[in-house]
Amino acid sequence: MELRTSAGRGFAFPASGSRGTAPSPRLLSRHPADLEPIDAVHCLLILPTRSCCRRSRFSTLMTTAYNTGTPDLVDFNWDALGFQLIPTDFMYLMRCSSDGVFTKGELVPYGPIELNPAAAVLNYGQGLLEGLRAHRKEDGSILLFRPHENALRMRIGADRLCMPAPSVEQFVEAVKLTVLANKRWVPPTGKGSLYIRPQLIGSGAILGVAPAPQYTFIVFVCPVGHYFKDGLSPISLLTEEEYHRAAPGGTGDIKTIGNYASVVSAQRRAKEKGHSDVLYLDSVHNKFVEEVSSCNIFMVKDNVISTPLLTGTILPGITRKSVIGIAQSLGFQVEECNITIDELLGADEVFCTGTAVVLSPVGSITYRERKVEYGKSQEAGVVSQQLYAAFTAIQKGLVEDSIGWTLQLN
Ligand code: COI
Repeated sequence: MELRTSAGRGFAFPASGSRGTAPSPRLLSRHPADLEPIDAVHCLLILPTRSCCRRSRFSTLMTTAYNTGTPDLVDFNWDALGFQLIPTDFMYLMRCSSDGVFTKGELVPYGPIELNPAAAVLNYGQGLLEGLRAHRKEDGSILLFRPHENALRMRIGADRLCMPAPSVEQFVEAVKLTVLANKRWVPPTGKGSLYIRPQLIGSGAILGVAPAPQYTFIVFVCPVGHYFKDGLSPISLLTEEEYHRAAPGGTGDIKTIGNYASVVSAQRRAKEKGHSDVLYLDSVHNKFVEEVSSCNIFMVKDNVISTPLLTGTILPGITRKSVIGIAQSLGFQVEECNITIDELLGADEVFCTGTAVVLSPVGSITYRERKVEYGKSQEAGVVSQQLYAAFTAIQKGLVEDSIGWTLQLN
């Protein structure tokens, strides 16, 4: 794999990101969710045709943006982007019954969906999520990063939860359509990216514990900046021994919604103590490192990179897999193995990977009242800086993508 990057030059640590109240965008037009139903229908009807003589200001704008790919941008304070929900224009919906065939997906204005209170997802957590990113290049085109991998991972998770899933082609097409329909929300180059959230839910009503009779696939998007409130500054992790994220034979290795509900309590406790997030240990020995609430973990010791082996309780992250590939192509030895908490505490560098967190250096880990700090030496963070630079260069289209990880939308 050929990589021409500025690897090794280090992170550019920007000013702190923001995760507070979402800054309110000054829209160039009315938001679809604010339209009267008749307007919304009108807008959807005219989207594909561009031939209606009674267009609203909104629909004219969206028709232009959607059909011609005009790189119009929302008038928005992009510098204030953090990782918080900002409603965009459109979402994608596709349903199927228990026959397992998804058909007739469509873009609809972003907004609430109607669910029966007996929906399987509400009662029994039959749901999956995915996360991927789109970046705007200088030439106005948009790059998706490895969408096929998300589609495949959703299919594996769906199989585990007895859900039918969209085909890889349907998934990727839905993602493309949703991103293009919301193109004006893709942040300008260097200001962030568009986070894409596909979901698959058991939307059909059922009383007993069983697979739902109907499923809905949804894709919505949101412009985002950095995940952690201090941007790319090294994060502080608190090791959790009481709660576990996953157990052998459970669902830790799929992206099911319940995996995230179960981490918020420990996460809140860690944040109250001033930490950025929680580091989980295995549930059998309380000794082996697993992952952080929403990302995978890596360590570097004597220039060897290691990350916990995927044994069924750890999410097979797409960023994790990509970073392993990049590290190997840069000549690093990479080991997927069991890592004890003591080994992690003795590492030269530690970093986390994930779609949301990208590649975040870890500044400290606290374990049983002992706080170990990383990055004190002169060589601090060199490996993670090199990997971050190489990874984001591909994601953002700054280097030639000779391995075909990115998908360009024009
Ligand atoms: C992602 O990295 O995309 C995730 O799904 C994590 C998310 C729960 C914030």
